[in-house]
Amino acid sequence: ADPPADDYFHQVIAADQKIEPRDAMPEAYRRTLVRQIAQHAHSEIIGMQPESNWISRAPSLKRKAILLAKVQDEAGHGLYLYAAAETLGVSREELVDKLLTGRQKYSSIFNYPTLTWADVGAIGWLVDGAAIVNQVPLCRCSYGPYARAMIRICKEESFHQRQGFEILYTLARGTAAQRELAQDAIDRWWYPSLAMFGPPDSDSTHSEQSMAWKIKRFSNDELRQRFVDMCVGQAEVLGLALPDPQLRWNPDRGGYDFTQPDFDELFQVISGDGPCNRQRLAHRRAAHDEGEWVRRAAAAYAAKSAERRAA
Ligand code: ACO
Repeated sequence: ADPPADDYFHQVIAADQKIEPRDAMPEAYRRTLVRQIAQHAHSEIIGMQPESNWISRAPSLKRKAILLAKVQDEAGHGLYLYAAAETLGVSREELVDKLLTGRQKYSSIFNYPTLTWADVGAIGWLVDGAAIVNQVPLCRCSYGPYARAMIRICKEESFHQRQGFEILYTLARGTAAQRELAQDAIDRWWYPSLAMFGPPDSDSTHSEQSMAWKIKRFSNDELRQRFVDMCVGQAEVLGLALPDPQLRWNPDRGGYDFTQPDFDELFQVISGDGPCNRQRLAHRRAAHDEGEWVRRAAAAYAAKSAERRAA
């Protein structure tokens, strides 16, 4: 049964402190966290694909080394997050199985293709930039293991965002063709990045409850606005345009007016029908099958080591 409204759980939430794995918690709170953390972990792992597409074709050895390190960081983020989810009494096998069978989601953004090298820059600047805006408040999430995982993830995401910005900055100051590549990448990634923040507040099923539980600290629309406000100045430094003719400062609101992303497209992508959904999941399933022997070998090694220790 769920704890009563004046119990330890609610006192901790009201006092802005952390719930830890052994604390009693409402079943719906636990389920919401498993859903969100698993979806977040899956996003990190699936998110390795669009960028790894360019590792073998990075324009220099240095760029290749940086991109390799970045994609490896994403795998690490997935691991911290699966570990955080496991503290809620689910196993990693179970979560991976739900991803591979389409019963759990991952972020819409990773269902778009990376057509040119400039896309690696746009992903770093816009996608990782959006991720930071969304994730910095999660460092204050009421669930301890998730909040702590987010601290390190956010530090690494800041580095990712800067490397993307620097790629675009370099292209924007290169030849006319390089500048065009950079602009084209921003034109294609801008609206999908805005859609990452989720449906508008009026259509967000979980926001109200998640904010009451202090899992989410800001609504989807609040964070989307913050992201737009942050990008405008950075685009000026890049000398590149954001593809929105409606973008203008609104002194009454103290923020930029902007065109919303196409939310029908977001729902279509979330439901499995985006440009690369099938390719992403097929690739993930193949990697999982091919990695079977590694998992078995690691489990056998762990069992043997345990036996040796016991002897
Ligand atoms: N992609 C895929 N699904 C989405 C997206 C998106 N961009 N936005 C919302 N959804 C889904 C929600 O998961 C929910 O579906 P469900 O009930 O089947 O789980 C539904 O759309 C309705 O949305 P909300 O009620 O607004 O959902 P929620 O309160 O969970 O907010 C949000 C969505 C903001 C993405 C939240 O889950 C969150 O902050 N997650 C952690 C961050 C994260 O996952 N980032 C991944 C991308 S960043 C990166 O990895 C680099």
